[in-house]
Amino acid sequence: MKRGESYVCRECGYRTAKWLGKCPYCGTFNSIEIDEEKTHSNKKKYPAVEFLSLNQVELSHKERLKTGINEFDSVLGGGIVPGSAILISGEPGIGKSTLLLQVANSVSKEGNVIYITGEESFEQVALRAKRLGIASDRLFVVAEPNVLRVLDNLDKENPVLLIADSVQTLYSDELDSPPGSLVQVREVASRLVRFSKETGIPVIMIGHITKEGSIAGPKLLEHLVDTVIYFEGDQQNFFRILRTTKNRFGATDEIGVFEMSSSGLMPVLNPSAAFLANALLDNSVVYPALEGTRVILTEIQSIVSPTFYANPRRTSSGVDPIRLSIIVAVLETRAGISFSGCDIFLTTSSGLKVKETAVDLPLAISLYLSLSGKKSGVLAAFGELGLDGSVRQIFQPEMRIKEVERFGIKKIIIPDYDRINHKVSEDVELIRVKSLAEALEAVR
Ligand code: TYD
Ligand code: MG
Repeated sequence: MKRGESYVCRECGYRTAKWLGKCPYCGTFNSIEIDEEKTHSNKKKYPAVEFLSLNQVELSHKERLKTGINEFDSVLGGGIVPGSAILISGEPGIGKSTLLLQVANSVSKEGNVIYITGEESFEQVALRAKRLGIASDRLFVVAEPNVLRVLDNLDKENPVLLIADSVQTLYSDELDSPPGSLVQVREVASRLVRFSKETGIPVIMIGHITKEGSIAGPKLLEHLVDTVIYFEGDQQNFFRILRTTKNRFGATDEIGVFEMSSSGLMPVLNPSAAFLANALLDNSVVYPALEGTRVILTEIQSIVSPTFYANPRRTSSGVDPIRLSIIVAVLETRAGISFSGCDIFLTTSSGLKVKETAVDLPLAISLYLSLSGKKSGVLAAFGELGLDGSVRQIFQPEMRIKEVERFGIKKIIIPDYDRINHKVSEDVELIRVKSLAEALEAVR
């Protein structure tokens, strides 16, 4: 055996550094042969690479580009990093083009902004701009789907920001596949990413996701870009939430809340008030959700009603349906409450998608109140439920309690913490519970 030689099993692909008579993996005899390709590539000599210790690296102190739309800047971690590539995904019609046209307009105070559209005609974009009251001499729209042609002509424009709407409608004429095909989507995105790295000009690209939430295309782009932002909300209600799921230049848990109005997307400065816009009722259960560095209050609403079907329905909006099933199972086995023969409908107010398990307790309480028809007055709750019916602690109880208190809710059910670094005012009833049974006792 020569150094650097590699062997492979013809039958199963098992690799070994020395020749064997029988493949130890699939058991075939005389199937191991020399792997020409691997053996050759092993011998290839590469040019030297540079090994740098971390303190040798010189950090560039280039300023982030502020978009001037605070909700957007904070989601990015304080503005756009020079040379970064950002992907914004969301369902069709959610407001991606609207938001980015507003961003483009705002950034054009700093310099030229190029907005490439493969989706709409120049007139359509101009019409939207007019509706939004946008007029800027430094915002340029290019209605040209061939991304290479645009990139080739950008030198004299010297933009501070490039926006591509959308990766699914742009294409590269170096490939034969149609726009929107996987190879084209990947090619368009990697061209844009390369452009941003080579020139230092940041690129924001829009990617569509399908109605079902599966990401046709953008998912495979996520590792190419520096930052991935989702634009969520549903079209029935006006709230839109920007949420970062990946950010090489900042935290990923900050959210930005907007409201779609007749003159475009407006930042929502007091999200809790917005999400709790409806008057709270006698059996309202409010959940303080931690979103990034702030708490947003949302109401957990449920209906439990006799079913007309053989298989009762379990429908949830804003809460993971699996979580709902688990909580129902815990209520049934640990609290002896039966939902058999009942349909369950669950929703969060204003369509906020809650991600934390801290929603378990308010969810269980809401289901219990709906089933029993009891009224307990407006209350707030948070806490994770164990399968054994225990109520577990979750992060940042103080922040949540403060926000609930700020909204004048007088009854708060929380896990049993050893210590809470916040004293609630006298008229607020802070109930600490160790188990689901104790929590239900507190609302009976
Ligand atoms: P759009 O930005 O085109 O969505 P996307 O690019 O994500 O597909 O906008 C979607 C919806 O927003 C559209 O149905 C109309 C509505 N809209 C408003 O309500 N107000 C406005 O000022 C604008 C521009 C759009
Ligand atoms: Mg669009």
